[in-house]
Amino acid sequence: MFIRASLFWCVAGLAMGLWVALLLVAPTLNLGLEWTSFGRVRPIHTTLIVYAFTGNALIGSSFFVAQRTCRTALWGSRELRQLLFGCYQIFVLLAVSGYVMGATQSKEYAEFEWYTDLFLLGVWLLYATILVRTILQRREKHIYVALWFYLSFVIVVGMVHTLDNLAVPVSFTGAKSYPLLSGVQDAMVQWWFGHNIVGFFLTAGVVGMMYYFVPKQAERPVYSYRLSIVHFWSLVFIYIWAGPHHLHYTALPDWAQTLGMTFSIMLWMPSWGGMINGIMTLSGAWDKLRTDPVLRFLVTSVAFYGMSTFEGPLMAIKPVNALSHYTDWTVGHVHSGALGRVAFMVFGSLYHLVPRLWGRERLYSVGLVSLHFWTASVGILLYIAAMWLGAIGRA
Ligand code: HEM
Ligand code: HEM
Repeated sequence: MFIRASLFWCVAGLAMGLWVALLLVAPTLNLGLEWTSFGRVRPIHTTLIVYAFTGNALIGSSFFVAQRTCRTALWGSRELRQLLFGCYQIFVLLAVSGYVMGATQSKEYAEFEWYTDLFLLGVWLLYATILVRTILQRREKHIYVALWFYLSFVIVVGMVHTLDNLAVPVSFTGAKSYPLLSGVQDAMVQWWFGHNIVGFFLTAGVVGMMYYFVPKQAERPVYSYRLSIVHFWSLVFIYIWAGPHHLHYTALPDWAQTLGMTFSIMLWMPSWGGMINGIMTLSGAWDKLRTDPVLRFLVTSVAFYGMSTFEGPLMAIKPVNALSHYTDWTVGHVHSGALGRVAFMVFGSLYHLVPRLWGRERLYSVGLVSLHFWTASVGILLYIAAMWLGAIGRA
């Protein structure tokens, strides 16, 4: 069910992305309606693609990986898991319907108002309970590294979501609230949240997918298990401090900006350690890339991980950020990470999962997967190149 939902939201979220892009060129495509203006449609794209498409894939795949690597069934009754599934989709609908009506907290990736925040918190606690209890009842002594990454995703997203959304509702009917913090403190906590949504939703969770699906599809063990543990601890420790790079040259104290910059540069090392570990897992199986487009999706995702985590630390250096911040360079960086890294990993993992879950011997058409791979790759390269060229033009 989570995989079906992920596919559905993928189509909806990407279509919204296209609409947002078209609105930038032709603003009249909002058809003269306030409900469909750029400011309302843009968070629909980001929410659908991050929380709905990637979120459903992460929850679904974490349940699969937990069962396989812990050699146990999921904890709780079937009805409880169906409740989790249904409530997660209701959360998405609550968020998106709020934006259309103009209800927003104006905090990027945390736009949904207080009633949706509370609802998501409840849903998240239920998800965390099912995953953690499943791991606790495992019949395997060791907890496989992919699950460590999934666990960090569950814990950190719950933590930053709660702290960033501390607000006082002022209207039950008008869906309006005011944040407890204000000014620069509010900005600081917001970008601590925003950066860790990128770091733990779009990165750690997806790294969890990498550590399970890349070795499985390549039929090779992880290149270095020791390196994967170093990758885990260094990534979770360093990521959490890098948020201030979103607030360079603002009223945020200079020392905090420098701290964010320094930790961002340090983040390069664990990110590349993980990337190298993922790529080298193919040692002895490189020839499979010629015939297996699913593996190509997974490996290209790891390559994009390397690329976006090389570019990110550069953009976090203050003088570089002074050039990049108000340009489309950021949007290009976002999509090399989000489309190239996240979406490709999800596509590869879903292609691996679907035949197994539906009891089929093989995919419907490997040729179509190959076509998907090449059109998506060319599309992403055109997208990112256009953003870079646009940014250089502006700079
Ligand atoms: C067909 C593919 C896609 C298209 C055409 C597209 C288009 C867009 C556009 C036009 C924007 C607004 C840029 C601006 O305000 O200048 C945007 C923002 C964004 N998109 Fe996409 N997108 C696509 C896929 C994705 C995917 C797969 C993800 C994540 C997994 C994603 C995540 C984001 C995020 C996080 C932002 C906010 C960026 C920021 O604030 O700098 N997008 N997208
Ligand atoms: C070592 C890793 C990374 C570092 C140090 C890093 C650093 C940065 C920096 C400096 C910015 C620009 C901030 C600004 O000027 O406002 C940025 C924006 C962004 N990055 Fe990264 N990045 C990294 C990896 C990634 C990855 C892998 C993804 C996606 C999966 C990603 C997604 C984003 C998004 C969504 C934004 C836009 C935030 C916004 O303004 O809405 N980043 N990143």
